[in-house]
Amino acid sequence: MPFVQSIDFAQSPRVSEGVPADAFAATLKRTEAALDWLRGRHADGKLPLLRLPAQRDDLDGITQAARKLAAGATDVVLLGTGGSSLGGQTLAQLAGHAVPGVGLLRDPPRIHFMDNLDPESFASLLARLPLATSRFVAISKSGGTGETLMQSAVVLAALRGAGLEKRIGELVLGLSEPVSGGKRNGLRDLLEPFGVPFLEHDTGVGGRFSVLTNVGLLPAAILGLNIGAIRAGAAAALAPVLERKPAAEVPAAVGAALSMALAERGKRTTVLMAYADKLERLTRWYVQLWAESLGKDGKGTTPIGALGPVDQHSQLQLFIAGPRDKMFTVITVDAAGKGPRIEAEFAKLCGEPDFAGKTIGDLVAAQGRATAETLAKNGCPVRTIHLKKVDEASLGELLMHFMLETIIAAHLLGVDAFDQPAVEEGKILAKKYLVGASA
Ligand code: PA5
Repeated sequence: MPFVQSIDFAQSPRVSEGVPADAFAATLKRTEAALDWLRGRHADGKLPLLRLPAQRDDLDGITQAARKLAAGATDVVLLGTGGSSLGGQTLAQLAGHAVPGVGLLRDPPRIHFMDNLDPESFASLLARLPLATSRFVAISKSGGTGETLMQSAVVLAALRGAGLEKRIGELVLGLSEPVSGGKRNGLRDLLEPFGVPFLEHDTGVGGRFSVLTNVGLLPAAILGLNIGAIRAGAAAALAPVLERKPAAEVPAAVGAALSMALAERGKRTTVLMAYADKLERLTRWYVQLWAESLGKDGKGTTPIGALGPVDQHSQLQLFIAGPRDKMFTVITVDAAGKGPRIEAEFAKLCGEPDFAGKTIGDLVAAQGRATAETLAKNGCPVRTIHLKKVDEASLGELLMHFMLETIIAAHLLGVDAFDQPAVEEGKILAKKYLVGASA
C-alpha cells in the first residue's frame, strides 16, 4: 500500500508562510522537464538507478553472498563511509539494528556499521570482537577512500595478529568497482592478495544513490530482510514517472516543487521528522542525499533530520518559534492501537487517567498529528507523509521517492545531483597533513 503524501499544510492561505498556489503550480510545471529526463534515462539505461526497482536477476546472488558470509558468524562488521554505509544502515534498522531497546537484543549476527572513523571506537571494536567468528565487509565504490582503506588495513593486521591470516579470504568480503582503464583501486590492491572475494559495485550508481544495489541489499540480506520487497516498494515510487502521470500525480515531483518553491520564499532549511524508531537512520541517509546532491554553486537547502516524539523535547521549540527559514516533512506511521496498553490503575496512579486503555502507539499517533498541525498553525509549511507500516516495501518506496525527489530538485536548481566536487579539496589537504603527522 503506497504512502500518502499531503501538502495541504504547506500552502497559503491555509498556512501563513506556505507557498501560494500560483507559485507552486509554476514550479511544478518546471518539473515536467525533469520527469521527461528521467523517462529518457530509464529508456536509454544511462541512469542505472532507474532500472534497479524492476531488476530481480541479481537478488539470488546477493542472498547467497549474504548467507555464505553470515554462516556461523557472531558479528558482521561493515567497513565503509557515507553512501557506502548509510543505505545499509537504513535498511538494517528495519531488522532492529540501532533501534533503542531492541538493537542489542537482536539474534546473532550482531551487525556493526563503522561509518565514522574514530580511533577509540575502532581500537575497542577490534580488541573486543571475537575475530575468529567475525566477518568483515569492506565497501567502497572508488576503492580509494582513506577511511575505508585504513579500516581495512587494520582489520587485516588484527586478523593476522590473531593467527587467522589463512582464513582472511573466508572472513572478509570486498565490494567495489571493477578495475578498468588502468585506474587504481586501493581496496582491491589491499585485499585481493589475501584471497578476499569481491562483489562488483555498479559503476553507474553513486554512493548516496546505491541503497538499492548490493551496497544496501547485502547488509539487508544478512539480516534476513526480504530484498525483493524493497525493490518492489521502490518500483511503486517510480511507477507514476514511467506511467507518464502528470507532475501533480507524481509524489516526488510534488515534493521537489514544494521544496524549491518554498526555498525561493526563504525556506532554506528542510526538516525531515519521522515518528518511528525504525526510520531514524532514514533521516540520516536523507540528510546526506539531499546535502551532497544539491549543495552546489551557492544553491541547495540545508537538511535536518529529526525523530518523533523524542525531538519534541529537543528541536521542536526552535522549529516552531525560531528562525522562519524552514519547511517540514513529518512522516507518520499507523501507530494507533499498537504497542503495550496502559492499565487504568497505573494511569490513575500517575495522574493521567485519560491514558487508561490507551496504547503507546495511540500517544505517538496523537503526537505526530499534533506536531504537524501545531507547526502549520504557527505558519510553518508542512508536508506530511503517512505510511501504513514500516516494512521492506514501504521503506523501499520512501528511499526511491527521496532519490527521485532529489534528482528532480537538482534539475530545478540547475545543479548536478551526482557529483561532490567541493569535498575533494579537504580530502587532499587531509592526506597532506597525514603525511606530515609524526609517527
Ligand atoms: O555519496 C557519495 O558519493 C559519497 O558519500 C561516497 O559514498 C563516500 O565518499 C564513500 O565513497 P566510496 O564508496 O568511493 O568509498
